[in-house]
Amino acid sequence: MPVSFLHACFLPVLTVSRAQDLEVFQPSSAEGTEGSSVILRCSYNTTSDIMIRSYWWVKDAGLVVKNATQEFTGRVNCPPGQDFLLAKRAYIEIRNLRLNDSGMYRCVVNIHGLQEASGKGTELQVIKRTFVVSQPSFAQGVEGGSVTLLCSYILAHEPKVGSFWWMKNQSLLVKNTTQEFMGRVKHSSPQQFLSERRADIEIQRLTLNDSGMYQCVVNIHGVPETSGNGTKLQVRDRGGHQAIASGTQCPQQDGKVEAELQYTEIVVKAEQNPMSQRKEVTYIALDTQDG
Ligand SMILES: *[C@@H]1O[C@H](CO)[C@@H](O)[C@H](O)[C@H]1NC(C)=O
Ligand SMILES: *[C@@H]1O[C@H](CO)[C@@H](O)[C@H](O)[C@H]1NC(C)=O
Ligand SMILES: *[C@@H]1O[C@H](CO)[C@@H](O)[C@H](O)[C@H]1NC(C)=O
Ligand SMILES: *[C@@H]1O[C@H](CO)[C@@H](O)[C@H](O)[C@H]1NC(C)=O
Ligand SMILES: *[C@@H]1O[C@H](CO)[C@@H](O)[C@H](O)[C@H]1NC(C)=O
Ligand SMILES: *[C@@H]1O[C@H](CO)[C@@H](O)[C@H](O)[C@H]1NC(C)=O
Ligand SMILES: *[C@@H]1O[C@H](CO)[C@@H](O)[C@H](O)[C@H]1NC(C)=O
Repeated sequence: MPVSFLHACFLPVLTVSRAQDLEVFQPSSAEGTEGSSVILRCSYNTTSDIMIRSYWWVKDAGLVVKNATQEFTGRVNCPPGQDFLLAKRAYIEIRNLRLNDSGMYRCVVNIHGLQEASGKGTELQVIKRTFVVSQPSFAQGVEGGSVTLLCSYILAHEPKVGSFWWMKNQSLLVKNTTQEFMGRVKHSSPQQFLSERRADIEIQRLTLNDSGMYQCVVNIHGVPETSGNGTKLQVRDRGGHQAIASGTQCPQQDGKVEAELQYTEIVVKAEQNPMSQRKEVTYIALDTQDG
């Protein structure tokens, strides 16, 4: 048995038969974005009914693409056994892509050590992530006061249409019309959002219940929706720890507004249907100049 069996994603049980031709197919190129996942596709055909088969992927000059390889630790997924044996698919998924994952990936299929074939190779290109949403990890406020939760994003091109919203504890939409935040939320204007790339909110008349994890979500047309890592807000009671409250952050903006773009502000009304909650965004900013 060849050593390469040890690298296999899948080692099924034996049935008996004869060996036949084996061909392996894979696309010549694939693309993924830094931090996301990519599926490297591969299929094979054979008339053999020997079910002792295995496959593996090799990067560049022989690096085996599997969880146990240091470069790929915990980042490789394989299809279920039937997919490989019956549907003759031999893809892998590589998650949390890094720029240095770029390279040539070859898919190798082996039938019972009798036959082995590889595809012509897929050139994977990992593209630098150009859309990053940042927010501070921690903010503090005092009961009855207000706090500004900062959020900004980096994007290579000038955004035209987009929206942003905040979630508390992964579940509660933070906006003026949610019961918990009724009339207490202000946010960056569409202009600030698109030109200055700010997606801040201010929560007023803080209560102790406002403490929690707040996540800023930014959606720019044509780019996958992206969230910040979350800001942990801690609201202190009025009695005790005033000194700490001076650490509350406020945006240092000069109030200047670039008026080159024209915007239409659309306030999307809260909907009754909980299924549509995701559409209940804070607002959508539209650039009306380009038609
Ligand atoms: C595999 O597929 C190719 C192209 O579809 C075909 O030409 C070839 O005969 C097939 N080989 C087997 C063993 O089925
Ligand atoms: C590789 O590791 C990840 C994370 O631990 C796991 O989800 C996945 O199933 C593993 N893949 C294989 C083929 O064992
Ligand atoms: C690839 O890049 C990651 C960081 O993105 C780094 O931790 C790793 O050591 C690099 N691997 C190689 C082989 O250079
Ligand atoms: C979010 O967290 C991840 C993992 O901890 C980290 O790699 C990334 O840089 C963080 N993103 C920002 C914008 O801080
Ligand atoms: C939320 O309500 C407050 C108080 O009614 C108001 O000042 C503020 O402009 C409202 N914010 C939004 C985004 O509608
Ligand atoms: C959710 O928010 C409450 C405050 O309303 C906080 O006490 C709790 O720790 C949060 N839960 C999680 C899982 O973050
Ligand atoms: C805080 O939350 C609890 C339980 O959800 C509720 O009973 C209480 O009235 C809330 N307090 C304030 C000040 O909103």
